[in-house]
Amino acid sequence: MKNQTLSQLNKEDRPVCHLTPETGWLNDPNGFSRYGGKYHLFYQSNPLDTCWGAPRWGHVASTDLLHWERLPEAMTPDRPYDIDGCFSGTAIDTGEHMLMYTGFRLDPDDAKGRGIQTQCMAFGDGLTYRKYEANPVLTEQDLPEHGDPHEFRDPKLWQEPDGSFRAIIANHNGKEGAQLLLYGSSDGRHWDFRKVLMTNKGKPGWMWECPDFFRMEDRQTGMQRQVVLVSTMGEVECLCIIGDYDRESETFRETAWQTLEQGFDLYAPETIETPDGRRVLIGWMQNPQTAESRGVEYPINGQMSLPRELTLECDRIRQWPIRELDELHEDKVVRDAVRIEDEEIRLEGVNGRIIDMTVSIRPADGSETDRRRFDEFRMRFAKDETHYTEFCYEPETSMVTLDRSHAGPGSTELLKRQTKVAERNGRLDLRIVLDRLSAEIFINDGEQVMSAVIYTDRHAEDITFYVKGTAVMDIAKYRIKENK
Ligand code: FRU
Repeated sequence: MKNQTLSQLNKEDRPVCHLTPETGWLNDPNGFSRYGGKYHLFYQSNPLDTCWGAPRWGHVASTDLLHWERLPEAMTPDRPYDIDGCFSGTAIDTGEHMLMYTGFRLDPDDAKGRGIQTQCMAFGDGLTYRKYEANPVLTEQDLPEHGDPHEFRDPKLWQEPDGSFRAIIANHNGKEGAQLLLYGSSDGRHWDFRKVLMTNKGKPGWMWECPDFFRMEDRQTGMQRQVVLVSTMGEVECLCIIGDYDRESETFRETAWQTLEQGFDLYAPETIETPDGRRVLIGWMQNPQTAESRGVEYPINGQMSLPRELTLECDRIRQWPIRELDELHEDKVVRDAVRIEDEEIRLEGVNGRIIDMTVSIRPADGSETDRRRFDEFRMRFAKDETHYTEFCYEPETSMVTLDRSHAGPGSTELLKRQTKVAERNGRLDLRIVLDRLSAEIFINDGEQVMSAVIYTDRHAEDITFYVKGTAVMDIAKYRIKENK
């Protein structure tokens, strides 16, 4: 796409509570952290075009994680070691704002046209950042045997209780595949390789990107667990690996794993702990496979997911929109016990493209006979005469399907996703957040999430509900307040 398409996005086309780039392209969230009493979020940015290119670090700050103030770019590729991109990384508050990221420069000797990836530091005050003069701090020399310097990126930085620093860095091991490497430092400037922390062992992805690593309490057992997030190249997935981490021996023991996204669009998430102790995730709401081939001319390309609160129960992560979103609710519409019988209905006041809505659907009186008569539920949204996105549920098989093949522009690839939900006697609880260019569907209290970017015309606002057989539905719908 050429630069002339790089117009500003009209205000009425811009998502309201999802971060978008002012112009051009956005991919991974970076450096999600608190500093100076605010949330800071950086992101992989190419403001000059709507496709990926030599990433800079865009920068925004917020007090509620939903409204972001744009700040000057924190870093641009301007040093020999990062001349082709300041790749992803993380940030912590050490008194100064400490950033660790991957410097990328194309390797003229590489037949595949790949780049050399090294790890770098930068320091700032929440507004301006300076790259460490002795960058890079980790290079090819610091890789274990078979570690590929072309696939060595996305440091996750943290500080240990004794004040020393650790970082986990994604790497490809020519022999075994994806691995996460652990590095240590006493001052955040001089770093040493410590060990291979984990390898992909039968899980998806020949290379893991953008690791996150944090502690969380399991609500059921009260036990502290360690959570690892990685995004996988190849079969695109966000993996969440749960286990125990022993600080002394620096060993991770896995107990369970799951995927975080059952829809299309979530990648490279980072998390933060809020001052009141919530673990909040934000991800690039895009599937990297379709980001550049989306088949639509649009002035911007890329947005973040809703910030989602994570909770852990019996080694399973749930995701739920952060409660700050409730503050933006207005114009409540409630419809209780709506009986639908072999028909498609519309409900007065239940429509819109900037909405937060809960839908509970169940067999008519919960009896065995009724359960057998509830064959299918279909909800169509972002709908006009020709376009819609459809969510379908089949109680018999507990399968749900998200289908965007009729969403209009940009609906060219990855059109349908399916997943099995918990069997709850035919009952299904949904929370659906639509924000102009996207839908996020939180299923059964956030046990599963399906996210989809859609480019359907913003006037396509209808919502319909169809039941084959008989079912009863409760709805509560809010508009999400726009920042006028
Ligand atoms: C993930 C990723 C990262 C890399 C960045 C470059 O989307 O490929 O691994 O640091 O994007 O923009």
